[in-house]
Amino acid sequence: MALLVVPLLALLASLLILSDINGVYGGRSIFMEEDLEFERQLKQLNKPSIKSIKMSSSIPKATFKEASSSGVKHVDLRLQGGGCPSGTVPIRKTTKEDLIRWKSFSNSSGNIHQFLDEGPGKHVHPKLYGDNKTHTFGHWTADGSQKTGCFNALCNGFVQVSKSSPLGLAFPFTSTTGGAILQLPLFLFQNIHSNNWWLGYGEGDHFVDIGYWPPELFNGIKDSAPIVGWRGEAYAPQGELYPQMGTGNLPSRFKGSRQSKITAYFRAVRVYNESYIGVGPYDRSLQSVTDSPYCFYVFDYPYIDDYWRHVFFYGGPGGKC
Ligand SMILES: *[C@@H]1O[C@H](CO)[C@@H](O)[C@H](O)[C@H]1NC(C)=O
Ligand SMILES: *[C@@H]1O[C@H](CO)[C@@H](O)[C@H](O)[C@H]1NC(C)=O
Ligand SMILES: *[C@@H]1O[C@H](CO)[C@@H](O)[C@H](O)[C@H]1NC(C)=O
Repeated sequence: MALLVVPLLALLASLLILSDINGVYGGRSIFMEEDLEFERQLKQLNKPSIKSIKMSSSIPKATFKEASSSGVKHVDLRLQGGGCPSGTVPIRKTTKEDLIRWKSFSNSSGNIHQFLDEGPGKHVHPKLYGDNKTHTFGHWTADGSQKTGCFNALCNGFVQVSKSSPLGLAFPFTSTTGGAILQLPLFLFQNIHSNNWWLGYGEGDHFVDIGYWPPELFNGIKDSAPIVGWRGEAYAPQGELYPQMGTGNLPSRFKGSRQSKITAYFRAVRVYNESYIGVGPYDRSLQSVTDSPYCFYVFDYPYIDDYWRHVFFYGGPGGKC
């Protein structure tokens, strides 16, 4: 789970350069070069498509299923009308506005992967999506986002497989403190034959394979993962206030459903062992880490009951951290 809010700054170079003759000339040529570069990138990023699905970046159809605890809903992340035709997959089309937004965020190399650390989940990321909604996302990197990595299917790495559930969709609504609770059962697991790292969501008959990251992308996790983590993350540029994480409330010592009405949580967390069986996590090897305890906090309960199992309540108000 990651939460990221950054101020928007998207100015076209051409708007700034109008006064003197040399300036206009120089400015225009810079602008045109930039424009050509954007066109080149768009051509590279946007593969030929057979159908365009217009959507307001949110999930057009979202169905909810009451889970066993009252007031809890599970979200179904499928596109309306079954998604894409058989044999094709939905990939978000990158627009020039996206490139301008991404460029203003990362002026060093213009690479869109330099936003945040790895891991799938859901996040708020105005620079990436141009809105303040909560989106599903996946991100990979083999070197802590130095040179490699990518979000969703925006560039190389992720192989989208589901024809109806692309990464990066916005949730139609999110949990509210004291109100309905929205849950997303999310799985990241390695296929023991192909070694692909698969991302899926749902449970039982409603399980959906979204897609996978091939093992060739990585160095350290080709055969298995030495470390597994669950976390929330907030980001602010230096000197600015941090955004909220989770519900914006710090977790307290309440347990189970009482606490779940107040803070965000990971429930029934499990690790797949070599026999492909969900176990642990083994409590003795677990570490809770909070780097700004007044802004964000986490409470870890190894076992509450069969519904909650191993649960972390986490989050906080952010601010000056
Ligand atoms: C842009 O790059 C310059 C030079 O590397 C750096 O000093 C500046 O902080 C960067 N600005 C942003 C918004 O990243
Ligand atoms: C996102 O929220 C911030 C803070 O409320 C606001 O300043 C910004 O304009 C919003 N961005 C968009 C794209 O709605
Ligand atoms: C995986 O977990 C199951 C259930 O605890 C256990 O029986 C099995 O031996 C474990 N496999 C390995 C390879 O540790």
